[in-house]
Amino acid sequence: MDRRKIILDCDPGHDDAVAIMLAAREPSLELLGVMVVAGNQTLENTQRNARNVLQWIGADVPVYAGCSGPMVRDKVIAGDIHGSTGLDGPVFPPLHKELEPEHAVQFLIRTLLDSQGDITVVTTGPMTNLAMALRLEPRITEKIARIVLMGGSITNGNVTPAAEFNILADAEAASVCFRSGRPITMVGLDVTRKALCYPEIVERMGRIGNPVSELFVALMDHFCKTQKAIFGWEGGPLHDPVTIASLIDPQLLTLKPMNVQIDIRSAQSYGRTNCDFYGYLRLPPTADVAVDIDVPRFWDIVERGLRRYSEEQA
Ligand code: RIB
Ligand code: CA
Repeated sequence: MDRRKIILDCDPGHDDAVAIMLAAREPSLELLGVMVVAGNQTLENTQRNARNVLQWIGADVPVYAGCSGPMVRDKVIAGDIHGSTGLDGPVFPPLHKELEPEHAVQFLIRTLLDSQGDITVVTTGPMTNLAMALRLEPRITEKIARIVLMGGSITNGNVTPAAEFNILADAEAASVCFRSGRPITMVGLDVTRKALCYPEIVERMGRIGNPVSELFVALMDHFCKTQKAIFGWEGGPLHDPVTIASLIDPQLLTLKPMNVQIDIRSAQSYGRTNCDFYGYLRLPPTADVAVDIDVPRFWDIVERGLRRYSEEQA
């Protein structure tokens, strides 16, 4: 089977951690590297968290630290959701997995230029690394097969009424990426807020009984508590893994091509993804926007992904 080559750019982050779990052992995907960016927490925390997760799941995937802050705006951190470490909850053993010496932006440029143009770039944090790479080396643009991002919203945000965190944290970077001309799949809050990790889902995954499902449970114990405290939901929305799940199962999401423009100008709506759902502007689409998700199918993908860690890796 031809495996789809992907690079995951993330800011672990509890839901980013689950995205790593799904990607690392999925037979239809080849995870070439994990890039890390500041977002949910500082870069120092997010890069350590990525290494801890990959070490825990036993995945031999290189980790590259990227940008420690946005391109233009002041840094913003989502410590309220993910805690002071960015991955509060689980207790990890001593960390031995090294960070790669190469900067994530250089890794991305080098890997894309050397490729056959068959790499999908998945971002589940602020899009700073990808935007910086596009600006530093425009020749990579045509080499990106597709950008799949968790971010944005057709309707309202989750940090301000207008903006979702990953876009708000670096709207200029998102704007650079959305104007790159490359195929984009936007997985926004419209669908990820339907992937609520209720207690019965946590119990279902806990019954798998391997070390990775145990990590899933420990992560969700913290993540769901803070999501309930802030948003009052009985289950935390598992945003980031929806990107990976949509690559594993192309039937998971219902997509609608739309012209999407990022607001980088206004004070109140900075970071809003203005999605022209009805085509008012008569402008060409810039993204395939997820408008619905088959939620039971998603949890089946998550369970199947966690069960893969019960099997001896070939
Ligand atoms: O708005 C949700 C996004 O912000 C997710 O990627 C979460 O990890 C945080 O980065
Ligand atoms: Ca994230």
